[in-house]
Amino acid sequence: MANKAQNGSKLIYYPSEDVIKNAHVQEYDQLYAQSIQDREKFWAEQAENIDWFKPYDKVLDDSAKPFYKWFTGGKINIVHNAIDRHLTTGKRNQLAMIWEGEPGDVRTLSYHALNREVCKFANVLKSMGVKKGDIVTIYMPQILELPIAMLACVKIGAAHSVVYGGFSSDALINRIEDAKSKLIITADGGYRRGKTTQLKEIVNEAIRQCPTIEVCLCVKRTGEEVYMENGRDYWLHDLINLPNASPKCETVEMDSEDSLFILYTSGTTGKPKGVVHTHGGYTVYTSTTHRMVFDVKDYDRWWCAADPGWITGHSYIVYAPLINGSTIMLYEGAPNHPYPNRWWQMVEKYGITILYTSPTAIRGLMRYGETWPQRHDISSLRLLGSVGEPINPEAWRWYHEVIGNGKCPIMDTWWQTETGGFMITPLPITTLKPGSATKPFFGNEMAVVDKEGNAVGPGEEGRLVIKAPWPGMARTILKDPDRYVETYWKEYEKQGWYNAGDSARIDEDGDFWIIGRIDDVIKVSGYRLGTAEIESALVSHADVSEAAAIALPHDLKGNAIYTYAILRQGCEGSRELEKEIKEHVAKEIGPIAKPEKVTFTDSLPKTRSGKIMRRVLKARALGLDEGDLSTLEE
Ligand code: WT7
Repeated sequence: MANKAQNGSKLIYYPSEDVIKNAHVQEYDQLYAQSIQDREKFWAEQAENIDWFKPYDKVLDDSAKPFYKWFTGGKINIVHNAIDRHLTTGKRNQLAMIWEGEPGDVRTLSYHALNREVCKFANVLKSMGVKKGDIVTIYMPQILELPIAMLACVKIGAAHSVVYGGFSSDALINRIEDAKSKLIITADGGYRRGKTTQLKEIVNEAIRQCPTIEVCLCVKRTGEEVYMENGRDYWLHDLINLPNASPKCETVEMDSEDSLFILYTSGTTGKPKGVVHTHGGYTVYTSTTHRMVFDVKDYDRWWCAADPGWITGHSYIVYAPLINGSTIMLYEGAPNHPYPNRWWQMVEKYGITILYTSPTAIRGLMRYGETWPQRHDISSLRLLGSVGEPINPEAWRWYHEVIGNGKCPIMDTWWQTETGGFMITPLPITTLKPGSATKPFFGNEMAVVDKEGNAVGPGEEGRLVIKAPWPGMARTILKDPDRYVETYWKEYEKQGWYNAGDSARIDEDGDFWIIGRIDDVIKVSGYRLGTAEIESALVSHADVSEAAAIALPHDLKGNAIYTYAILRQGCEGSRELEKEIKEHVAKEIGPIAKPEKVTFTDSLPKTRSGKIMRRVLKARALGLDEGDLSTLEE
């Protein structure tokens, strides 16, 4: 990656001979063309890398569009592929996971040890009545028991629903209710920026309103005093040392299309959607994308610095790297604790070779300057990755030059909770342009089109669509198949395309540039939040009668939440009230949703049908042209 060239005003980075020579995939154009021409053949070839209990009959079943099925008739379990099959090879002695807690404690697990811990945990779950087809809710800090719990559920045929540990009890209640979980796994707390988080307390609050929960398993992490209810709450360490938690547990055979996990994500309306992923297609898709895009080798130490509670963590901390037999790094806490060199210290200490993170994390570390990474020998890094939002060229260059020493290609991967894995992404051999996710992954046909579905010209902005199915795609929304069709497939029903909800451009070289969300979804620090969720949290404050939320550009977070509130009669806007409302939203949804500002107003711009015109609020806030106001009724 040392060679750069100037093309107009844009920088282009060419891969070095060395990178090309050693890459798994050495050629893109021809393989891509073949993968499009015969998609099923391409995916059948990739499925050869996976162990099936029983071979599948059909690669793709498209008889009930848009409810596509992959590898039908096949019997599989992702855990067999992630763990069991490595136990009879040299991999069993290799490190599967290296974990460092924020206070500095370290734990490592070989594949053999990971299997033992997963089996014991699975036997505990069985003894508590968890059965095939159940959905277990997991609400945990970033400790090793989190991936272990996920794998244990799946091993015995249950699906997990991991709720991010930064969410409030209300968000947790909604998700438990929707999934009808009988069992929840949590911890007393976790460490973040030198403080502890009180997870068990939040779970206690949630269970009070969730009658389906019968059992709560609690991992001891901080050792702080927590309330445990007799007959309902159990310490994991008590159960896991009992004789019936044996270190042997059979992995249950699942159908390719059986549910693997549910993951909730924000949409355009208030209620979060339970996105459903399944065993067969997800196993093939995530492992193939991880292997080809990050060019994984036996000597690699892979660090995806995301929270396991998000899709990035599911696909690329837990499942794909284990299927590929990688050594995975996990870290519990904040990147700048106790000092801004924390990550670089760990890269040096553990000899990390691939780092995959978000633009918001890069910007956050960049502001402390380059002397922090320069204190450490981070030359073990050979590849870098970015995900979650468009990466601004300044952050790209810092990442490339200061962290990658000008030699590590940056894989800017575009994808979504719903896609399961990378959709538009470079390979190590790809010519890179800072800010572009470059080209579709093999098998994927993507386009940028107008409202009617006509392709827009090079460089023109349009809507990003996916024209053909892929194995990692979400299968439905839990208990709401209509919403699945409505959200993703309605807009381009005639063409049968998936509507990604993003706006984008394709340049003259065929490279994709993602601009941002078109629907009412805000990306804050890479996290996805619905304006409707934020607005409903605002109006749940006693003084607020109506509210609107918009995103405005922010140097660090990418976007920040700006809100507008109409107060109830007799209420007076004040600094104190603004602060109180901000705290209220943070409490309702979680700290990531805390608004930057609450503006008190007497009216909101609305259409005649009563929809808030957020683009008008945004234009006003930025001092821009308000655009077409013909539907405005203020
Ligand atoms: C939305 C999906 C997939 C894991 C993390 C986010 C935005 C994601 C990129 C990228 C530009 C990106 C899109 C997408 N996004 N990756 N490389 N460049 N934008 O998953 O929470 O489901 O959000 O994140 O807007 O639609 P998610």
